[in-house]
Amino acid sequence: MSEAKNYKEALQHPIFNTISKASAQLNLKSYVIGGFVRDYILQRGTAKDIDVVTIGSGIELAQEVAKLLPNHPKIQVFKTYGTAMLKTSDIEVEFVGARKESYSEDSRNPVVENGTLEDDQNRRDFTINALALSIAKESYGDLLDPFDGINDLRSKIIRTPLGPDITYSDDPLRMMRAIRFATQLGFKIENESLKAITRNKERIKIISKERIVDELNKILSSDQPSIGFKLLEKTGLLNFILPELIALKGIDEIEGQRHKDNFYHTLEVVDNISENTDDLWLRWAALLHDIGKAPTKKFSKKVGWTFHGHEFVGSKMVYKLFKRLKMPLNEKMKFVQKMVLMSSRPIVIASDVTDSAVRRLVFDAGDYIDELMTLCEADITTKNPKKFKKYHHNFKVVRQKMIEVEERDHIRNFQPPITGEEIMKTFNIKPSREIGIIKEAIKEAILEGEIPNEYEAAYQFMIRKGNELGLVVRS
Ligand code: CTP
Repeated sequence: MSEAKNYKEALQHPIFNTISKASAQLNLKSYVIGGFVRDYILQRGTAKDIDVVTIGSGIELAQEVAKLLPNHPKIQVFKTYGTAMLKTSDIEVEFVGARKESYSEDSRNPVVENGTLEDDQNRRDFTINALALSIAKESYGDLLDPFDGINDLRSKIIRTPLGPDITYSDDPLRMMRAIRFATQLGFKIENESLKAITRNKERIKIISKERIVDELNKILSSDQPSIGFKLLEKTGLLNFILPELIALKGIDEIEGQRHKDNFYHTLEVVDNISENTDDLWLRWAALLHDIGKAPTKKFSKKVGWTFHGHEFVGSKMVYKLFKRLKMPLNEKMKFVQKMVLMSSRPIVIASDVTDSAVRRLVFDAGDYIDELMTLCEADITTKNPKKFKKYHHNFKVVRQKMIEVEERDHIRNFQPPITGEEIMKTFNIKPSREIGIIKEAIKEAILEGEIPNEYEAAYQFMIRKGNELGLVVRS
């Protein structure tokens, strides 16, 4: 049973006082519920999204609150859902009437009826999200917690208010939410719940891709994303969402030669990179950097296991995967593709760091060289301390060389020192194949270190190259 507890200090924002007054005027009982209360008790800071449930009309309450506020802000009304949204400079409040819901088999859109606070708490996803604080003057801040969610918060447990099969089958997105909260908060999903997710996994098919990706992004943005991906794998959900990762699972052995389990390796890489970057797309790149390994895996007696061309195949798979999950097919996707495509490049040069190899790496990676190096360093998951030290040392050498080469040659954001216009003018020629050949030759000469990345040297080189092609300088 819930203890008599009061959290009025959670309700210090002036908006709560206004909601309290508006509720009294309309003779409604109102409560703050859900994430705001959960995060306050967990001391995760004060959330700016506030959910208010009232025993009556949420829309009327929102209208009354807006009237009482000095600047009478406009509210957004969503009639079909019976909700209203009020935004001020620092918070967003969603108002809803308490309801009872029942769901049909093939949809997550419920049939809704008015209900009591307890009906409303029953229909929520987890006990830790069903905590409510009264906003009525006489019981301001009193906690209403029929499922002992407060104890689950203390014991770090994700549990459903109703039988888990009902809660997950009603709204299968909650399976992803359970795993996401477990990852974000470091909580354990209670055993019966975990089994129910496994039983109901197929129902994830009725959830829109966008909502699934929202949850995936939140898992990936956590401190230790592997927690979520291991749970997605364990429950079988990952098969429906990212089968490309499932294909990386397992270790094959032929004639005593084994390769590593690329699924668990990938998860280590994602955790590693998450210590060094909050960039969601770089984390996606880490998650997908090896997906080309499943379709390219081969065994030969001579060299053992190989994954030739997996970076190229993987970068093509990124496009299909983004498309299937309705993720943006924009610069972000191209960035992930580029990272996957180049993911082995720094490793290849690390054992023999030449100036020209570094110049080529910086040229090809362009603006993303730092991200690429961060990815490659995260890719070091060897458990052999000597190798671990050696690989990190090699990358340090690459980074140092990059600084030296960059100071001298300015390859990053490379701009050709000689333009096509200038080549045409110099040799008095019209647009033609030769111009491309000369431009490419200048670039190659710079990258190879034959000439410095400077105008005068490039000009002389252009003349020589033009002469080779039978062109003469206009007098
Ligand atoms: N909720 C639910 N089932 C869902 C989504 C939400 O029962 N599929 C309920 C929960 O009580 C939740 C509240 O609606 O606390 C608000 O949902 P939302 O704003 O999506 O999540 P929060 O819990 O506030 O957490 P976060 O902002 O981290 O998503």
